[in-house]
Amino acid sequence: MKGVILAGGLGTRLFPLTKITNKHLLPVYDRPMIYYPIQTLVDAGIEDIMVVTGGTNAGDFLRLLGNGREFGLKHLRYAYQEREGGIAEAVGLAEHFVEGQPIAVMLGDNILERGIGDAVEEFRRQGSGARILLKEVENPAAYGVAELVGNRIINIEEKPKEPKSNLAVIGIYMYDNRVFEIIRTLEPSERGELEITDVNNAYIRDGSMHYSILEGWWADAGESVEMLHEANVLVARQRRGKA
Ligand code: G1P
Repeated sequence: MKGVILAGGLGTRLFPLTKITNKHLLPVYDRPMIYYPIQTLVDAGIEDIMVVTGGTNAGDFLRLLGNGREFGLKHLRYAYQEREGGIAEAVGLAEHFVEGQPIAVMLGDNILERGIGDAVEEFRRQGSGARILLKEVENPAAYGVAELVGNRIINIEEKPKEPKSNLAVIGIYMYDNRVFEIIRTLEPSERGELEITDVNNAYIRDGSMHYSILEGWWADAGESVEMLHEANVLVARQRRGKA
């Protein structure tokens, strides 16, 4: 299984912090934001990782992360997203890298308290299709929101005005190789992007989407200045607990 970390975007919700740098390079407690998702994938046993970034600060990722030695990796791969084409477009850039293997995609601003090893294992056992992680939140309207009937997921709505549940789709997605075919069928949304929610709904429609409920806290650090601050507090507390 290969890992893909998405670290593009303009980070407009964090302006002016992101006026001269990429949001995934901003500090969260004692390290740059992107360190956390990389560590999450590595801890789950995923060691062949590509970082997809864009904009004018792309070179900084190479200087910061190099070949991934700080994470015990032998190498890291990089891809460059040339425009703000959306999360699904960024995933599409990893096609040549994954060489037919299943992938775990993680958004570079998602920080988790605990590991995703169990969900990755369940996806491996599942054999094909897709798996997402859901987390109960207080403000579902800020996220992709899952609609369940019993234990079955029947739809995901992106940032709905009237959320059908309080289960947010967090920024970790596991896909079989069919994801690249699906991405090629997508049309841009109203904001002109290829939406990851449309990819997930395609898997839901053909009955091959599964989900796990995330244990422990989740911080979508790039969602707002408040969440960035919250992520700092949560990580600081966790680190002190362990010290
Ligand atoms: C993206 C997805 C959304 C998901 C969120 C998790 O939103 O589109 O479905 O819930 O990531 O971090 P964004 O934060 O890019 O607006």
